[in-house]
Amino acid sequence: MLNFEFKNPTKIYFGKGLIEKVATEIPANAKVLMLYGGGSIIKNGIYEQVKSALKNFEVVEFGGIPANPEYAVLLNALDIIKNQNITYLLAVGGGSVIDGTKFLSSAALYTGTNTWDILQKGIRTEVGMPFGVVLTLPATGSEMNSGAVISRSETKEKFGMGGPGLFPQFSILDPSVISSIPHRQIANGIVDAFTHVLEQYMTYPTGANLQDRIAESIMQNLIEVAPEIMKDNTNYNAQCEFMWSCTMALNGLIQKGVPTDWAIHAIGHELTALFGIDHARTLAIIMGSHYNFNFENKKEKLAQFATRVWHINEGNVDEKARIAITKTEAFFHSLGIQTKLSEYTENYKEAAPFIFKNFTARGMLGLGEHKNITPTDVVKIVEMSY
Ligand code: NZQ
Ligand code: ZN
Repeated sequence: MLNFEFKNPTKIYFGKGLIEKVATEIPANAKVLMLYGGGSIIKNGIYEQVKSALKNFEVVEFGGIPANPEYAVLLNALDIIKNQNITYLLAVGGGSVIDGTKFLSSAALYTGTNTWDILQKGIRTEVGMPFGVVLTLPATGSEMNSGAVISRSETKEKFGMGGPGLFPQFSILDPSVISSIPHRQIANGIVDAFTHVLEQYMTYPTGANLQDRIAESIMQNLIEVAPEIMKDNTNYNAQCEFMWSCTMALNGLIQKGVPTDWAIHAIGHELTALFGIDHARTLAIIMGSHYNFNFENKKEKLAQFATRVWHINEGNVDEKARIAITKTEAFFHSLGIQTKLSEYTENYKEAAPFIFKNFTARGMLGLGEHKNITPTDVVKIVEMSY
């Protein structure tokens, strides 16, 4: 096991009927900016619950943060924060609203001249404006981590940011919010969370058995709950298992003391930036070709994953490892998620040169746990996913 530090300061409220707890967590004298997306919270009643909980607070609202939170839209919210002396942010939404709020938390206290630098230059946020979360969509884990991903459509860029100042102060996880989520987004959430675990697990054996076994448990739980929640998204027990699995998949715990990969995400973000494909679907597209291309480096863990998660007990390491990849793709297919880029866009051949150019220009010359996957390798991985 590698050395590590671990601190996660986000307070979690988990359970039905807990949205009202926002009132006990936000300081009484705060001037709150409540941020949300395209309006799902108004249709499903979450908006009313939050507004009623905040009845004794001074609240300004900012709606319309789109999926893949857009920099230009967020700058409008930043104006409100500055002009109206906002002191506290409340994200009510999924990963996009939470990430947009994290950008604003950082930008509100940023002293440089150009807030895009936070993303382009990878400036870490040590202290941000305090914020809380009411989670409406399990998937990203953003409700309990300190990362965010922001898109800029005019330049077709999608960049990550983070830092210890960007943990939510609290997050309210009411699993019953899942009742209104469309199938497409539930499937996305399952695949995103599953791939988060893979990115922190599918490297090489390090003897960190506890981390491995927690990771394997999260994946097994997602495999088990997937058909239940896809069949009936009002099943409360399935809602709980799904939501908590997604949070645990990316709250920092399972990545401690182990090498991590994150190449699938790095490549996937480019596919979203270029084609607008949903985040989770880009991961489903890249997973198989990434693991097949880097097979020799990853086959020990792939075989372990085959045995412990997919219960494959026959065959040698190579055979088990290949079956694990096929099984994982079949799992994604079972959720209605396609795994070939050409199934999403007829312009698929633009992907490899676009990503090669971007990774080379940005100096992303060595991806993966060994930092040895070059832009030329990435071209091959992307072409294998066509
Ligand atoms: O915008 P509204 O109308 O609210 O509708 C949203 C949106 O259209 C809808 N939705 C959310 N909750 C709902 C609901 N519809 C009905 N009922 C509800 N209860 O779902 C749609 C998708 O929402 P979005 O927030 O975009 O989804 P997700 O949570 O998958 O977030 C994706 C974003 O998070 C980033 C992705 O790159 C992408 O930009 N990620 C963030 C990470 C992080 N911060 O740690 C890690 C991830 O790997 C990921 O990169
Ligand atoms: Zn993800």
